[in-house]
Amino acid sequence: MTATQPGSGAVDYSTKIPNNVNLASDGRVLKALEQWHPGYIDWWMAMGPEGFQTSDVYLRTAVSIDPKGWAKFDYVKMPEYRWGILLAPADESRRVNFGAHKGEKAWQEVPGEYRAMLRRLIVIQGDTEPASVEQQRHLGKTAPSLYDMRNLFQVNVEEGRHLWAMVYLLHKYFGKDGREEAEGLLQRRSGDADRPRMLGAFNEATPDWLSFFMFTYFTDRDGKMQLESLAQSGFDPLSRTCRFMLTEEAHHMFVGETGVGRVIERTCAAMRAAGIEDPYDIARVRALGVIDLPTIQKKANLHYALSLDLFGSEVSTNAANFYSAGLKGRFNETRIEDDHQLTGATYPVLKLVGSEIRRVEEPALTAINMRLRDDYTRDCQGGVNRWNKIIEKAGIKFEIRLPHVAFNRAIGEFRSIKASPEGEIVSEAEWARNRDRWLPSEDDGAFIADLMRPCWERGQYAPWIAPPKIGIDNKPGDFEYVKIHRG
Ligand SMILES: [Fe+2]
Ligand SMILES: [Fe+2]
Repeated sequence: MTATQPGSGAVDYSTKIPNNVNLASDGRVLKALEQWHPGYIDWWMAMGPEGFQTSDVYLRTAVSIDPKGWAKFDYVKMPEYRWGILLAPADESRRVNFGAHKGEKAWQEVPGEYRAMLRRLIVIQGDTEPASVEQQRHLGKTAPSLYDMRNLFQVNVEEGRHLWAMVYLLHKYFGKDGREEAEGLLQRRSGDADRPRMLGAFNEATPDWLSFFMFTYFTDRDGKMQLESLAQSGFDPLSRTCRFMLTEEAHHMFVGETGVGRVIERTCAAMRAAGIEDPYDIARVRALGVIDLPTIQKKANLHYALSLDLFGSEVSTNAANFYSAGLKGRFNETRIEDDHQLTGATYPVLKLVGSEIRRVEEPALTAINMRLRDDYTRDCQGGVNRWNKIIEKAGIKFEIRLPHVAFNRAIGEFRSIKASPEGEIVSEAEWARNRDRWLPSEDDGAFIADLMRPCWERGQYAPWIAPPKIGIDNKPGDFEYVKIHRG
């Protein structure tokens, strides 16, 4: 593969760990990473995609950080994927762009006073990456096509690489406690009662492919927002790492958006062909072997609410401290026109006031999480609109909607109340009566589980999902994205 050409952004594949950070001349970190590597492979074999470790998968591997041509596609057995350390190019003139240190030269080393905070941010981000691989490890077996199976595995290997990205920072900049944290990232397990992953949504099950698509649409998008704000960091190595991770993350959300879109497309087409106009005629729609639109809405309700929880409390001194320290900025920080220190600024926050949901002005500094969550909601709405276009085009009267932010929350202002998807506060009894109308029920789960039969013939798709518009890497429709090794 490509050797390093100085300044070309090419990746050095001559070491065991591909990288563009000149690991070959950084003996201490190279050694630490080489020692961590076997534990990572053990984790991948135990917790990575179950049943497909010897199959040949048509994957993209990063060979450069040049945005125009960073990836190369080829068949790879997943355990042999070249996970590596890839940082976006350094910008010598980069500054700290917000907070108390605004205007200082961006830090190339960890500022001593912020060491603990920074380590925590990196560990929390790092913990989500292997968690999602664990959550998705059973899905290969029920893949609706080789195309979808390949996309699942692509997402999985890249989440593995994102773990590498955070582990590099821990090893390079945090000494002994960094190495311990890197070990911890391999020890915790999604959903494990004794040593769970750090954040709620990453301990939930991903039982079926509709959940997978919703997860990559909503939860990977939380990841995008977190990476966007860490990409603003005054700690330059973190910024550069996150900027490259974002280029990979885009594909994950593509998988989610088009996945849900293809499920909707198939449902609408089947309804039309059968002459069913009422989307709530659920039994008849399901009899066609497709997923009814109200159930798709319920899945969206669930995954959106779980993902909102990832933004933390609306009003948070931690978030304010991260911001003032210059460690974690706002979405598009440098494009916002203000003082970037938020002196005296306020931001409207939805809060529970007595028994009402009201908009209250809070200091912008403590409302950093709320602002990022609002940016997230706007970002989510785009794909939802495109889903609704598909439904509209089919002439069906139904609209997917993002539920109110007070709906089904476990963290923040609304954790102690029950609210409808419209944002109306309801009693426990009302909640219990409506729960299965608002969130996937056991029946819904069983119905979807029954649809999840593998479809592994080249160019074929399970009957509940439409084929994609174009292939990966422009491959033809019958391309063999995964050469399944049955042995
Ligand atoms: Fe990731
Ligand atoms: Fe992702």
